[in-house]
Amino acid sequence: MLNTNKKNELELIDQPILVLGGTGKTGRRVVERLKAREIPVRVGSRNGEQPFDWEDKSTWVSVLEGVRAVYIAYYPDLALPGASDDISMFAELALKNNVKRLVLLSGRGEDGAIQSEEALKKSNVEWTILRCSWFNQNFSENFLVDQVNDGTIALPVGKVTEPFIDVEDIADVAVKVLTEDGHVGELYELTGPRLMTFKEATEEIAKVTGRDIGYVELNIEEFKAGLKEAKTPSPLVELLIELFTTVLDGRNSEVKNGVQRALGRKPRDFREYVQETVVSGVWNK
Ligand SMILES: NC(=O)c1ccc[n+]([C@@H]2O[C@H](COP(=O)([O-])OP(=O)(O)OC[C@H]3O[C@@H](n4cnc5c(N)ncnc54)[C@H](OP(=O)(O)O)[C@@H]3O)[C@@H](O)[C@H]2O)c1
Repeated sequence: MLNTNKKNELELIDQPILVLGGTGKTGRRVVERLKAREIPVRVGSRNGEQPFDWEDKSTWVSVLEGVRAVYIAYYPDLALPGASDDISMFAELALKNNVKRLVLLSGRGEDGAIQSEEALKKSNVEWTILRCSWFNQNFSENFLVDQVNDGTIALPVGKVTEPFIDVEDIADVAVKVLTEDGHVGELYELTGPRLMTFKEATEEIAKVTGRDIGYVELNIEEFKAGLKEAKTPSPLVELLIELFTTVLDGRNSEVKNGVQRALGRKPRDFREYVQETVVSGVWNK
């Protein structure tokens, strides 16, 4: 017969891990990894298998039912007003529903993200924070993919360097801290291994694709005008302006050892990401 502790452990193993933003850049990869390990997983998003909407709190309770741990990729960004209140309320609800562990995807250099991290820390759940730099995959799975395909990346950032991180590394860390002990109360700053300017990143993509892709540094007014012309929704415009004027002012121009500390290996280099992405065909359009 099983002793009670053993039985609890097994019951916990049968409970799903909820992945919020589970169809997005990091969440999708976390889901794939958990499924590959036959760990029960629930995808929480507006169009996921379990409807969940940050803007509709009535969807927050049912998604937590029977869940043992949650990976939180907040949308659109923790830097936006109200995000830390959402994280605080969600953590409280998770605790009430006996969720053991919350893992928060956060961003570097954003005041709003720090407030959300603090809100999570104040809750009484087991927490781990993944504070990440700019994703490599913004060039292939986000707003920059069209610019790459059009042959010009135009952004209001010049000499400032960024240690771009691969979301494959973030997903590896997320799965580890969701499923293993020893990471509770840890804040991992996850960056890539190399500081690069946006121009250098563009040159690397151009070199590997063999295409003529240029980088143009815009001033902020030109950038705003471009967003207006593209009919970008206003919360996204504000977010992008905040990112390019405040966050990309050099404060994040430092490589951190979070990937090494969490996984015991080096982070993937931008070049490896570019070589794999070329093969996927996403830059052939
Ligand atoms: N991109 C970066 O470089 C970067 C860097 C550091 C930190 N971060 C953080 O990463 C987080 C995610 O950003 P991301 O750009 O990578 O996005 P993402 O995870 O790719 O976002 C898309 C996901 O969010 C879901 N979603 C969209 N609207 C939602 C809503 N109202 N309620 C619930 N789910 C919703 C989408 O599914 P449905 O459409 O089905 O809802 C999808 O699963 C943000 O909090 C950001 O601060 C991003």
